[in-house]
Amino acid sequence: MQLRDRHLVLGLTGGIACYKAAELCRALIKEGATVQVVMTQSAERFITAVTMQALSGRVVQTSQWDVREPNNMPHINLARAADAILVAPCSADFMAKLAHGAADELLSLMCLARPRPRVPLLLAPAMNREMWAHPATQRNMEQLRQDGTVLLGVGSGDQACGETGDGRMLEPAELVEDVIAFFQPKLLVGQQVLVTAGPTYEAIDPVRGITNLSSGKMGFAIARAAHEAGAVVTLVAGPVALATPRGVTRIDVRSAREMHAATLEQAHRASLMVAAAAVADWRVDNASDQKIKKDGSGGLPQLRFAENPDIVAEVARSERARSGALLCVGFAAESQDLLANAQAKRLRKGVPLLVGNIGPATFGMDDNALLLVTATAVLELPRAPKLELARQLVAHCAGMLAAAPADRATTT
Ligand code: C5P
Repeated sequence: MQLRDRHLVLGLTGGIACYKAAELCRALIKEGATVQVVMTQSAERFITAVTMQALSGRVVQTSQWDVREPNNMPHINLARAADAILVAPCSADFMAKLAHGAADELLSLMCLARPRPRVPLLLAPAMNREMWAHPATQRNMEQLRQDGTVLLGVGSGDQACGETGDGRMLEPAELVEDVIAFFQPKLLVGQQVLVTAGPTYEAIDPVRGITNLSSGKMGFAIARAAHEAGAVVTLVAGPVALATPRGVTRIDVRSAREMHAATLEQAHRASLMVAAAAVADWRVDNASDQKIKKDGSGGLPQLRFAENPDIVAEVARSERARSGALLCVGFAAESQDLLANAQAKRLRKGVPLLVGNIGPATFGMDDNALLLVTATAVLELPRAPKLELARQLVAHCAGMLAAAPADRATTT
């Protein structure tokens, strides 16, 4: 319920992507929003107001001349009641109208009449790739951006016209994620965040390996929360089957050594690193190129182990981390004595902030409980969904980033 207590006006303009607006309306309501649909006449050619009324549970507004409004001013009433207006799909024609302040039907009239600082306008463009690439469309979008409108971008791929390219409306799930992100406080604008997540996989031979039960959910939630907060986010992910959070650059790795290389390559431009990955402490040093066969003699494979590099400890020792230009955050998955283990691990890793959690109570789960340990304080974040905890952790890190560099410098 990420949109609880939000009232949205969902505007539909003429385009085949209107068929996706039905799903979008449902998805917004599922997240707790109330949705008032407003449709242009062109939109009504693609999908009926009946469908949208049934899904939104509210009478769809289609005309500024609707006599049912007591003051006959639906454009004022609708805009004043909304927390945001989302136009999806937004046609090229509708963007052109908005860019010029045209207001000859209810939806554009309402957009123009909205109190701008209080009621943001979000657009999900949808059109043929040539229309999208046309200088007039790009010019209009630039103008709209300058006017403070939020452009949510477009997808790429097969289009209803049979062509392939940019201009498809984003999928409903993507739009919902973008709308949720829009409402989050922008605490990390200008920050570059690096997150490691998931388990690693250490090969024994081409078909077998050693891994652990980390699901990657906590790290992925942190990457999402950092992006929601306005940061540029890179996520170095071990082998997990999770969807990449919107707007996050993902680098997939398998072994601890691959994660080490990818993380060090990225760390020099990060201002915050959160090491949520459950990195294998050891790898098999004599991994076989071929599958190890059972030969019937009862002999056992002789595995030899080597220690993996400690990624977060190494980054914490870097010049940038020691000067406070990079804030390093470590994680500890323990099975007991969380506070004592987390405090000890913070010192061992040399990180200003260590986040403790109980491994068996978090691996694979959608919720978790965290213990934030710094040199001077301990903060308990009670059990909650991982995304909620990730947002609280992001807020805590933002507070540390706002403090003097010495306060966030590593201690080794
Ligand atoms: O030592 P331990 O694995 O318990 O430490 C956990 C913390 O250290 C996590 O932040 C984890 O991502 C990080 N780590 C690492 N490289 C390793 C082992 C752990 O970055 N080789």
